Amino acid sequence: MNVVVMGAQWGDEGKGKIVDYLAQDAKYVVRFAGGANAGHTIVVDGKKYALHQVPSGILYPEKSVFLGSGMVIDPEALFKELQMLKDNGINWEGRVFISDRAHLTLPGYREMDKARDAARKRPIGTTGRGIGTTYSMKSERDGIRLADLDWDEKWNDLDDEDKKFLEQFKDKLLSMRVNIAAKMYEFRNDNILFEGAQGAMLDLDSGTYPYVSSGASCSAGAATGSGIGPKALDKIYGVFKAYETRVGNGPMPSEFDADTEGELCDYVRNTGNEFGVTTGRPRRCGYLDLVALRYACHVNSIDNLVLTHLDIYDDMNEIEACVAYNIDGKIVTDFPASIPELNRAKPVLQKFAGWKADITKCTSYKKLPKAAREYVEFIEDFTGTKVGIVSVGADRNQTFVREKIWKA
Ligand code: GDP
Ligand code: IMO
Ligand code: MG
Repeated sequence: MNVVVMGAQWGDEGKGKIVDYLAQDAKYVVRFAGGANAGHTIVVDGKKYALHQVPSGILYPEKSVFLGSGMVIDPEALFKELQMLKDNGINWEGRVFISDRAHLTLPGYREMDKARDAARKRPIGTTGRGIGTTYSMKSERDGIRLADLDWDEKWNDLDDEDKKFLEQFKDKLLSMRVNIAAKMYEFRNDNILFEGAQGAMLDLDSGTYPYVSSGASCSAGAATGSGIGPKALDKIYGVFKAYETRVGNGPMPSEFDADTEGELCDYVRNTGNEFGVTTGRPRRCGYLDLVALRYACHVNSIDNLVLTHLDIYDDMNEIEACVAYNIDGKIVTDFPASIPELNRAKPVLQKFAGWKADITKCTSYKKLPKAAREYVEFIEDFTGTKVGIVSVGADRNQTFVREKIWKA
């Protein structure tokens, strides 16, 4: 069975935590999008791991993990990350594989990415990891894939700096090389977990373009980025927070107003520890945006939502969520493509009662306070999508599922 876990907002929804949790019953984990721009946090028994390129199944000693063809790989950062895992007692050798179709980020790309963003009239606020440059080179058909490392003519075309850089990693990379389409076919009767990066609203096609990343972080990306067809995706989970966050620039209609909601913003940011794993930047915070979430459910065929960070609202008397946009006096409930319209959109808020209770030790949906369940049920009704998993803290164990996930 093939299960996809993707972000349903603007990234950092808790995908790493959920993938780690669900990986217990999967044999393989495949990351399908992005590269070193991602930061996925896993907490097990109080110990924290921050992963950027290595799939979040790596903590289980018997699982093999795959970096998919939709990823852009920064070899230097990847081997640093693998070393960090080794230093923490995680023996990864022999169980990390890379698609031979994945593209490689060369050192000059990081500088190009930063310079290009700095030169933009309206900067995106990229992570500066060379992501846009690597995907651009791919689209231009000038990129270099893992499979190209032993293509002599291509190698000879590289300039000396790139050759020198790649020479350090070439043999190690080639030893991890895999034909991912063949592997996925071979494993077709096993449980495979497909791990997204970024989120629905940062997807190049369906996100808030141009304020997006450059990969396919949509559910369809799980197919194109992993060497399988779209019909092979059995179940798609969309992870979202009880509120909204975004890092970098771009529209965010439900963002807390710095003048009138600064206190609430600080409260959510500090309680939720909303600072980027990759760049340390404070994340922008806002009310849960149900207009954007419903759009994400529709364009990604999300079967089940996964609600995280519900515990951040434990102390609130009252909660609000955005149920429509007011754009120039018009009520809009379909997510617009126009950036000026999104920038002018004012959130229409609906109030919910708070639960004023510690839910971090809750072990089942039934045990959640009534007001918390009412918030969940409103979200389900609004989006037409069931919340299948709830997370009430960062630890692997602070998670409960409402229905069986894997068939086998
Ligand atoms: P990802 O990029 O989607 O994997 O998410 P990040 O790791 O960038 O950010 C999510 C942060 O929230 C991490 O620090 C997690 O440890 C933490 N986290 C995940 N789920 C929960 C939750 O339900 N409650 C709380 N309080 N923290 C959570
Ligand atoms: P995870 O997987 C949050 C954002 C950047 C920037 C935009 C483009 O941890 O959820 P890029 O460097 O990709 O060209 O930057 O996308 N961004 C993320 N925001 N979480 C992520 O990944 C992100 N990956 C990219 O902040 O606004
Ligand atoms: Mg993250």
